[in-house]
Amino acid sequence: MTSITIPFPDDWHVHLRDGAMLDAVVGYTARRFRYAMVMPNVVPPITSVADAAAYRDRILGSAPSDAVDFRPVMALYCSDAIDLADLRTGIADGVVAAVKYYPAGATTNSEAGGTSLLAFRELFDVLADTGTRLLVHAESTDPSIDIFDREAAFLDNQLAPLCEAMPELLVTVEHVSTRAGVEFVAAHPHVAATVTPHHLARERSDLLADGMRPDLYCKPVINSSEDQAALVEAVTTGDPAFMMGTDSAPHPTTAKYGPKAKAGVFNAAYGLEVVADVFDQHDALSQLGAFVSGNGCAIYGVEAPEHTLELSKETMDKDLAAELSTSAGDSVVLFGTEEASRWTVR
Ligand code: DOR
Ligand code: ZN
Repeated sequence: MTSITIPFPDDWHVHLRDGAMLDAVVGYTARRFRYAMVMPNVVPPITSVADAAAYRDRILGSAPSDAVDFRPVMALYCSDAIDLADLRTGIADGVVAAVKYYPAGATTNSEAGGTSLLAFRELFDVLADTGTRLLVHAESTDPSIDIFDREAAFLDNQLAPLCEAMPELLVTVEHVSTRAGVEFVAAHPHVAATVTPHHLARERSDLLADGMRPDLYCKPVINSSEDQAALVEAVTTGDPAFMMGTDSAPHPTTAKYGPKAKAGVFNAAYGLEVVADVFDQHDALSQLGAFVSGNGCAIYGVEAPEHTLELSKETMDKDLAAELSTSAGDSVVLFGTEEASRWTVR
């Protein structure tokens, strides 16, 4: 039996939503992860320190009491609505851990996002001054650019000029999905990246070839097998610039299975098993702890966890949930049941 003990993992990119959906999903994250970088694209977006503190309270109020050591940390939504003095206070008080930039229109609840990174220079000066990371959804919204080329286009046209103008700014490319993204990170010493379980374990043929799979539809879209291989290589070789961010993004099945599927994969439940499976397939389980814990702790400057988790690959009869239900009557599909059937987490 294959078995490995890893430091208790962190999730550096997660959507916890609000209300009934928050209540239904937060336990999956709170029980499995220690730090959770909570995305601010709720409605309305989190743009002030008071919003962030109140949202954090709702998250902690909704989290189960048996969570081992759950530490949600908050990102503000990059927009003109952010008051820079408020931002400085929030950073100094430890309420704001990061600022997240969404290109307007790129993904769920991104309407309040930006149309040009460089337009936020003053805000980014505060981040650079305080050593706070800018989290970037790196995806062009130019309709003339092929959907599979939009990460590379954003990196070239938007993020590269910013990194050149502000080389000291700490940046995280969120849910990096392409070889171009991996190369961008390698070329920029102050740029790190989160990588999702689904971008590591699937490629676009899984999304499109055998019936279109709305449950695999996310932004940035899962890309080619070449891109997948570049991501897998970056994380399994232990490159310290890459850390896990599940991008767990629950949507009700009513929003996924329709003429216009919402983007998002809910993988807080089994994302760890999915990642373990990828590392195992590449004989790289020894690097798993770095990816799900060590690298992120170093990138965000937090201490290593006290607890550990054990992952065992064993064939057991398990009654695995494939969906969850919310008190509002919605269902959400859990990604990774196949991998979860092969792994036990203790
Ligand atoms: O697939 C995604 N879903 N990508 C994002 O960037 C946002 C997320 C969501 O909030 O649903
Ligand atoms: Zn996300």
